[in-house]
Amino acid sequence: MLISPSVLNSNLGALNAEIAKVDGVADMIHLDVMDNHFVPNLTFGLPVVRDVIENTSLRADVHLMIDDPDRWAPAYGEVGAFSVTFHIEAARNPSTVARDIRSTGARSAAAFKPGTGLELLNFLVPDLDMILIMTVEPGFGGQSFMSDMIPKIRRAREICGTEIWIEVDGGVSRDTIVECAEAGANVFVAGSSVYQSGDPAAEVVALAQLVSRA
Ligand code: DX5
Ligand code: ZN
Repeated sequence: MLISPSVLNSNLGALNAEIAKVDGVADMIHLDVMDNHFVPNLTFGLPVVRDVIENTSLRADVHLMIDDPDRWAPAYGEVGAFSVTFHIEAARNPSTVARDIRSTGARSAAAFKPGTGLELLNFLVPDLDMILIMTVEPGFGGQSFMSDMIPKIRRAREICGTEIWIEVDGGVSRDTIVECAEAGANVFVAGSSVYQSGDPAAEVVALAQLVSRA
């Protein structure tokens, strides 16, 4: 069970300091790359991710919400990301993207928007280390958890077996994390529930305790 706080709703003008708040308690740091095309929001790209990686001991869990991951995704592995997630909807050849990410030494992961079925998953499993089930529409933090994604998490766990990690992203909080864990998720992105709380480190610990009991 791993907690991966998302910095999206933190103070992005002081990124290193925000990440330092969860260093030592979080398992990874979740970095949302958005390009204003795949999603209607724009965050940061490769140079920022590279500098963040150089300035933290936390493992970087990079979530690419961008067009053309076939072209851009491997570079995030090359700068030292621990895990690189691309969206299945954006990839021209998902197997090749996953293999190209792995060839950099990073873990490869594919993300599924709420409306995207899992049909391709069987075929992709050999090339993936993790899948990400979106529990909100990608693009913004602070949205409500979509509880109708719970059966999809369960189905993903059936297809993936026990080896592949399943990450959930969107609206994950003390109120929703246990049902995700019970459905089979083992990696939990938490953005606003961590960074909009008064004490991000304490919130990470609280979330970890909840899932350790699930
Ligand atoms: C949304 C991003 C998420 C976001 C989650 O598209 O992928 O990682 O930061 O934020 P919360 O936890 O507030 O829903
Ligand atoms: Zn994300």
